[in-house]
Amino acid sequence: MKKILVTGGLGYIGSHTVVELQKAGFKTVIIDDLSNASVDVLDGITNITGERPDLEILDLKEKEAVSEFFNKYTDITGVIHFAASKAVGESVENPLLYYENNVGTLVYLLKECSDRGIKNFIFSSSCTVYGQPDSLPITEDAPVKPALSPYGNTKQISEEILADLCNVSDIRSISLRYFNPIGAHESAEIGELPLGVPQNLVPFITQTAAGVREQLSVFGDDYPTPDGSCVRDYIHIEDLAEAHVVALKRLLSEENKERFEIFNIGTGKGSSVLEVIRSFEEATGLKLNYKIVDRRPGDVTKVYADTTKANSELGWKASRSIKDALSSAWEWEKQVRGID
Ligand code: UD1
Repeated sequence: MKKILVTGGLGYIGSHTVVELQKAGFKTVIIDDLSNASVDVLDGITNITGERPDLEILDLKEKEAVSEFFNKYTDITGVIHFAASKAVGESVENPLLYYENNVGTLVYLLKECSDRGIKNFIFSSSCTVYGQPDSLPITEDAPVKPALSPYGNTKQISEEILADLCNVSDIRSISLRYFNPIGAHESAEIGELPLGVPQNLVPFITQTAAGVREQLSVFGDDYPTPDGSCVRDYIHIEDLAEAHVVALKRLLSEENKERFEIFNIGTGKGSSVLEVIRSFEEATGLKLNYKIVDRRPGDVTKVYADTTKANSELGWKASRSIKDALSSAWEWEKQVRGID
């Protein structure tokens, strides 16, 4: 049976992907440094799949330890690399942390893969590489714009590193550019668990509904969009996790058309912040306390994916609705807070 290394496998997207990998028959080993995840996530994964993934708690910056890891696990056939820092504001405050965590560790990991003949590498990228798009929906051919933050820049640089390496080595890689992942596993065993005050919209919504936060701030209602609030492409975390399995199988069966491929992973549909709030209220029957405040610096007005390439090439399509995603996010929040 094929063994897949999932770095950052206890995190939000990583944990859901481990579940989908196990469901598809893969063995998994997780590397996580617990900087933004809890070891309890392993129980959640095990409860869903009936199988406990291997876990090695280590920091990918520790080169020696990473090398030791690969000495121990000699049967890895593919890597899905999630481990990275992802707070846009923090990356502006502390750029070197982001370049070291996101770019430095990618280089170490790829060196190990290259040295050990591990050829299949899936990379966790973001629609942030498109910046403020010139036209919508956005295709993979759209120009990569100057990054708006060091975080965004690390995703751009990482893709360039992968493209350069794939040109000259046996490594084949797929970069998945995520739009906005939301929701939780339908079992409510795993979900998004941000430390401190959530920066992202949906955890802030569910924490407000749970009474952990008093009020949601909607950042601006004067954008040139139908209701004035920003538009994003919100994708159910289970759809997103499934895309990784499909991409991995494409590499393992050598169906990839190029050595380095890029796919947008979104729904193709844009929703405004106010629409998300309305959908949450409809999905849960709750009334959300929110107010309109000033725009948040750095926010893009509108972005949603053209998913034609992922649909036709990968044979993958998001199938769950935004309401499903929001109600699963709420079920998870209730479970975390002990609400009936
Ligand atoms: C951001 C990053 C993205 C990163 C993702 C995960 C940018 C342009 N995008 O996505 O690259 O992968 O975070 O960390 O930097 N909003 C509110 N109130 C809130 C929170 C958010 O109104 O309390 C609004 C925002 O203004 C935005 C939308 O909700 O319009 C989504 O925000 P968020 O969940 O933070 O995601 P992005 O900024 O799209």
